[in-house]
Amino acid sequence: MSFNEWFNKRFPADKMMREHLTEYFAPKNFNFWYFFGSLALMVLVLQIVTGVLLAMNYKPDAELAFASVEYIMRDVWGGWFVRYMHSTGASFFFIVIYLHMFRGLLYGSYKNPRELVWIFGMVIYIAMMATAFFGYLLPWGQMSYWGAQVIVNLFETLPIIGGALSEWIRGDYVISDITLNRFYAFHYLIPFILVALVVLHIIALHETGSNNPDGVEIKKGPKGNRWSKDAPADGIPFHPYYTVKDLLGVVVFLVFFFAVVFFFPEMGGYFIEAPNFEPANPLKTPEHIAPVWYFTPYYAILRAVPSFAGTQVWGVLAMGAAIVLFFFLPWLDRSPVKSVRYKGPSTKVFLAIFVVTFLVLGWLGTEAPSVELTAMAQFLTVVYFLFFLLMPCYSGTGDNLGFSGFLLFVIGLLMSLGLFYLLWGETPDLSTAMKWFYTLVTIAILFFLGVKPGWIRADAIKPVPERVTG
Ligand code: HEM
Repeated sequence: MSFNEWFNKRFPADKMMREHLTEYFAPKNFNFWYFFGSLALMVLVLQIVTGVLLAMNYKPDAELAFASVEYIMRDVWGGWFVRYMHSTGASFFFIVIYLHMFRGLLYGSYKNPRELVWIFGMVIYIAMMATAFFGYLLPWGQMSYWGAQVIVNLFETLPIIGGALSEWIRGDYVISDITLNRFYAFHYLIPFILVALVVLHIIALHETGSNNPDGVEIKKGPKGNRWSKDAPADGIPFHPYYTVKDLLGVVVFLVFFFAVVFFFPEMGGYFIEAPNFEPANPLKTPEHIAPVWYFTPYYAILRAVPSFAGTQVWGVLAMGAAIVLFFFLPWLDRSPVKSVRYKGPSTKVFLAIFVVTFLVLGWLGTEAPSVELTAMAQFLTVVYFLFFLLMPCYSGTGDNLGFSGFLLFVIGLLMSLGLFYLLWGETPDLSTAMKWFYTLVTIAILFFLGVKPGWIRADAIKPVPERVTG
């Protein structure tokens, strides 16, 4: 008996290779949007490898942490390279994941039957945000310290338990050595939970089979291809076809990645912020505290919502809701087709508006607040929520909104009224022209959504082909 046979009698290595690679039939029409899943996997491995190497010289101690990072940068052989790969990798991880998620939006990959693939993905996204947040404290620079202070203080706004909760998270009354130690423990732990979540994500995906740019279910189509008579006719084996194709993605990715690592590791303050080159000083607050760019759309939403009834908890709730709403996409999207290719104008327009909104909110979150920018953030926060809450209306094909659609429309209306109140009641410094601008745009959106003509409510879908195209 060969070693191979001996091994496979005891562990299904060959069976797994067949099920997930050589006999996993993926649709033959994947385009470049399908690079980002395998790229995310590669970056996850890169972050774990470079992270373990950094841990060999890093000291999770408030007295030593900052100096140990400088020691890695200056004295450890190749230390600067490993550190810059890790810091750049964090930002690239989010770039890749945002593109990966956007692909899901484009092609309706979250829709039945892939709801669980999407939900595991969202849990991954939240775990990634937690990892990045814990990791950012470790260099113990000014921004590490004050960024963590601001975020942990958010929990303080929760009624009743808030104070005790934020103290429990920090383990102290302020961010301290104790906090640094526990954040280090979590920063080392969560990536391994991420690996487990990615396994679940891929098992769920391989159970239903991949979606594709046409949103056509290849498993429901004709059977039989040159590898197997039972496999979907429009499927090709993942290995070698997509392993080779994904390699192209890897090469292009690495060109961009190393260009940043070698030439612009700080990326103009977006990847590593300037105040983080100063050691943490609990007695000196930096002039302007902003989280790293991948959190800033949510940070902008947080800052846009004003305190009300004597508490600031509303901003925190809005920020939480802005993330949680993504979980519900499979049920908010009522379109009978998956891919944007066959959807009508209303979905396309809303998706485009959403992308611009997300990017501009991200930019606003990095800027110091001013009256104009806050008004813009408030307006875009309403647009952000309308994208999700009105989706059951504009993604449907019928004229009838239904009760849930009507309810969501009322929520949209109330949010817009809140915006009017903020514009006209609480920000008197804003120029009247700007106030009218936001007011008219909001009225225009509401008019097109709620009132006749109903064309924007009903999404005019195009006929979907039986087989995948291209
Ligand atoms: C560590 C992070 C992640 C890794 C390593 C990962 C990995 C993968 C891989 C390898 C695929 C199959 C190849 C592809 O379709 O590109 C995939 C598909 C998918 N992922 Fe992820 N993923 C991650 C995070 C996410 C997140 C955050 C979401 C969304 C919230 C998500 C949603 C999806 C969906 C919906 C599919 C199916 C796409 C389709 O068939 O059209 N993933 N993922």
